[in-house]
Amino acid sequence: MTASHQPVRVVVVGYGGYGQLHADAVRAEPGAQLVAVVDSDRTARERARERLGATVPVVASLDEVADADAVVVATPDRHHLAPATAAVARGCHVLVEKPVTTDVPAAAELGRRAAAHGVHVAVGHLLRFDPRLRWLREQVASGAWGPVVHMALLRNGAVELRETYRDVSPVLQGGVHDIDVAQWLAGSPIGTVTCEVARAPDGAAAFMTMTGRTALGCVVTVHAGRTLDLPMPLDPQTWMSLATPSVTVTIDGDHPVRVVGAPAPPTPLRAATPVEMLARQLEAFVDLVRGGPGGVLADLGDGARAVAVALAAERSAARGGVPIAADRPDEHPPDP
Ligand SMILES: NC(=O)c1ccc[n+]([C@@H]2O[C@H](COP(=O)([O-])OP(=O)(O)OC[C@H]3O[C@@H](n4cnc5c(N)ncnc54)[C@H](O)[C@@H]3O)[C@@H](O)[C@H]2O)c1
Repeated sequence: MTASHQPVRVVVVGYGGYGQLHADAVRAEPGAQLVAVVDSDRTARERARERLGATVPVVASLDEVADADAVVVATPDRHHLAPATAAVARGCHVLVEKPVTTDVPAAAELGRRAAAHGVHVAVGHLLRFDPRLRWLREQVASGAWGPVVHMALLRNGAVELRETYRDVSPVLQGGVHDIDVAQWLAGSPIGTVTCEVARAPDGAAAFMTMTGRTALGCVVTVHAGRTLDLPMPLDPQTWMSLATPSVTVTIDGDHPVRVVGAPAPPTPLRAATPVEMLARQLEAFVDLVRGGPGGVLADLGDGARAVAVALAAERSAARGGVPIAADRPDEHPPDP
């Protein structure tokens, strides 16, 4: 653990679109210091050197980094586990981008290794740092509204994402954010799911609709699409509603929370931008590394449970919408 008066020394692995934002967040966070950037691609390393100057070493492998306390993993979705496992093995705390993995048993193994090395693995479910969702979570957790019985969440992105993330379905790429939000707000994991997919003429998954029920009985639908035919970068189309027996809340895009059946937030809560949410998430991660509670940061179990539900939805969609039970990350035995 680092002394609380010293900045947490952070390495960012993967300097693509999001790694760049993470590196900027680390440089802006007073409690952290960007000590290296790692990218396996030469062009990405050149881009990093151009943007960061000579003050931050830019290297091809984590092995070339001397001293670090923490590692942010922002490599493509199917390449999170190797750098996360290497970071844990050298005693670093890790913040991994979502989806934490595409292999649930491997996430369980990563958790065991992190525990053995006494380090934390957090997952980049940054929507938890949207002030509107934090307020919702506080209201639900207080019990004042009664149990959450229904949630519907929609996230639609650009058509271009079908190409950028062609090996990852909409429900695993974007929908995993909403699955985490639903499980976090409901305070309970989703079990069995069904999922239908609407395909574009070329066969690509254009929209997926998943339905499941949490262990506490809340019905959840997640609609994850990539049908906005607009240039990137582009704000996704998002919408969500949450209902208890007496209170209904809706959030449409960046608009303030609309509450029916209970008082609205005392001051209108503004939507946070991704850069703002990344900054708050990093602040929470720095707190965790220094031995604090880490606020609302998603841990490895949260990330793995969200992936397990998304993978069950993918399997259901592939089999014409049959019910599929989500894998239980906490029930995987250690490797022999
Ligand atoms: N939280 C969010 O809202 C959000 C938004 C966008 C992307 N993401 C996630 O961030 C991650 C990165 O996405 P992106 O769009 O920046 O991808 P990207 O393809 O733009 O960048 C990935 C970078 O990682 C590098 N890389 C690949 N394998 C590597 C390895 N083994 N070691 C070191 N570098 C390696 C690549 O060369 C590339 O520069 C993904 O997991 C993605 O899902 C999260």
